[in-house]
Amino acid sequence: MGKKAIGIDIGGTGIKAALVDIKRGELVSERVRVETPAGGEPEDIADACKSIIESLGVSHRNYPVGLCFPAVVKHGYTQSAANVSKRWIGLNADELFDRTLNRHTHVINDADAAGLAEVKFGAGRGSHGLTIMTTLGTGIGTALFYNGVLIPNAELGHIEIEGVDYETKAAYSAMEREGLSFEQWAERLQKYYSALERLLVPDLFIVGGGVSKNHEKFLPLLNLKTPIVPATTKNSAGIIGAASLAYASSED
Ligand code: BGC
Repeated sequence: MGKKAIGIDIGGTGIKAALVDIKRGELVSERVRVETPAGGEPEDIADACKSIIESLGVSHRNYPVGLCFPAVVKHGYTQSAANVSKRWIGLNADELFDRTLNRHTHVINDADAAGLAEVKFGAGRGSHGLTIMTTLGTGIGTALFYNGVLIPNAELGHIEIEGVDYETKAAYSAMEREGLSFEQWAERLQKYYSALERLLVPDLFIVGGGVSKNHEKFLPLLNLKTPIVPATTKNSAGIIGAASLAYASSED
């Protein structure tokens, strides 16, 4: 049967899931997507995850389930809530998902999950020193890795530049909302990555999120000292990272 786990990537607009081959870091089922229930309430999201697992057609097998979520996640508790209901703040998310999905689950921040996938199977494989994974989507997610080891819950999407939480300016959603061209958006990304570079002096930036499939339209416009590369697991990074963490913790 091989080593497999289900990964679920919960976002502000959609929830995506698939069965993942943990050894190769590849999806081995179709990727199912549903809209995030309006309001992003905990019980509604947990129920949506239950139906998404059922629609994967693998629910009868006892696969470990890993979920990733757009919030700080500490010891199974969600401690913030960007683009979902504020009721997630301080919620025992591990317990909610264990109960709703009727099995042991593991919840992690979405950017941390995406970064784990990249460091294990993608553009960050074998990286040394400080690697910063960034995901450009509804918000900006960030994950820090030192010699491949995750330092969890870095919330660097919210650094303040020119007096504003810069996620509101440089996330992909800002580009869409304001109808920016790639050139205009790249000017903001330049400010954002330069600030990270100044503060943290990393060895590598990895850029993920759905828009990274168009990386040739904006990465060449950036002028940085640090190498900056697109994620190779693209839009499935969160699914792969969450699944592989769930598998690893089911073996503990
Ligand atoms: C949240 C992070 C999340 C990122 C990407 C940010 O607004 O604060 O926790 O990783 O969005 O979803």
